[in-house]
Order: sequence, then C-alpha cells, then structure tokens
Amino acid sequence: MMDERNFTKYLNRHEIDALVIRVAEAINNDYKDKKVVLVAVLKGAILFLADLVRHLDLDLEIEFVRLSSYGKARASSGTVTLLKDIQSDIRGKHVLIVEEIIDSGRTLKFLYDRLKASNPASVEIVTLLDKASKRMVDVPVKYVGKLVEDQFLIGYGLDLEEHCRNLSEIYYLKYPN
Ligand code: IMP
Ligand code: MG
Repeated sequence: MMDERNFTKYLNRHEIDALVIRVAEAINNDYKDKKVVLVAVLKGAILFLADLVRHLDLDLEIEFVRLSSYGKARASSGTVTLLKDIQSDIRGKHVLIVEEIIDSGRTLKFLYDRLKASNPASVEIVTLLDKASKRMVDVPVKYVGKLVEDQFLIGYGLDLEEHCRNLSEIYYLKYPN
C-alpha cells in the first residue's frame, strides 16, 4: 500500500514517544486529583490515545466521538457533523479532547462548543500535532506535542484515504497530488 518513493520519514518512534511523554507529564501536573474524561476523536487519535493514557497517572474515563472527516479529499470541506457521540455524562467533570492533528480547527471548534454546552467543569484540547499556520477558526489548544508545517502526514493514526493508520512512525507525503 505505502509507496516508499513518495513518503519520507518525519517522526520516528523515539521522537513520538518523547512528545507523548512530555504532553502526559504536563497533564499529570495540571489534573492531579481531578476527575478527567478523555474524549478521543475517532479514528485518527486512537494510537496517540493508547500511548498517552499509559503515561497518565490520573483517575480517568475514556470516551470516543466520531466526526465527519475529509473523506477521500485531502482538504477540509468546512462542514462538520457528529457521527458518534459520547456515552457518559460529563457534567461537572474535566474534559480533555484528544486529537492527533489540528488543521483548520473546524472539527475541534465544533466538538469543543458541543461539549461545553453540557456544562463540564472544564474543556481543554490536547493534540499530538498542530498545523497552526492553517488555522481558520479560533480554538483554544492547551497541550501540543509538536507544531508542524503545512504538509500531508500519514502513520500513527493519520490516514491516507483510510490506509496507513497502523504505521508506527509518521511520514510526510512528498508529492501530495
Ligand atoms: P480540521 O478540522 O481542518 O482541523 O481537520 C482536522 C482533521 O483532519 C484531523 O483530525 C485529521 O483527521 C485530518 N487531518 C488533518 N491534517 C491531516 C494530515 O496531514 N494527514 C491526515 N489527516 C489529516
Ligand atoms: Mg482526526
């Protein structure tokens, strides 16, 4: 599936681990003794979530949401719909949205506003990667593993038309078109 000629390694296992651990330590510090609900965004965030929670020394619950995504296009369409909602009550709890990458911010803005409306104690966002220069809407991102350039990334949950999510390292596409 993966055409070696078109992909260049961007972050190796060791580099990803270091980012995950740094983010986890910041969260451990900030959420000591708090009831935390991690809301992970399917499908891309699953690998990051799985690694992150193993470094979190907190009393936490895990929930999933699924939002409409790029589909087969590689650019954000701008419209977001909720395909799968959380199952538990977040009222009075500290919510941490877990994303693997933020681009325009539209997906997260939609989710952030929706979760806020359920009166949690707080809502913050944690993302492994942030294409900050691509932001179209304002969304408060508290924990960022790494700022990245505007380039198409795959692996470690990030997909190319639903493939390549299982790669344990992150690559960038040399010739996006
Ligand atoms: P946004 O709404 O434009 O911020 O889109 C964010 C979503 O687009 C992420 O959750 C990813 O699923 C997807 N996405 C953004 N950039 C990339 C990329 O470089 N590779 C794969 N998926 C991406
Ligand atoms: Mg995603």
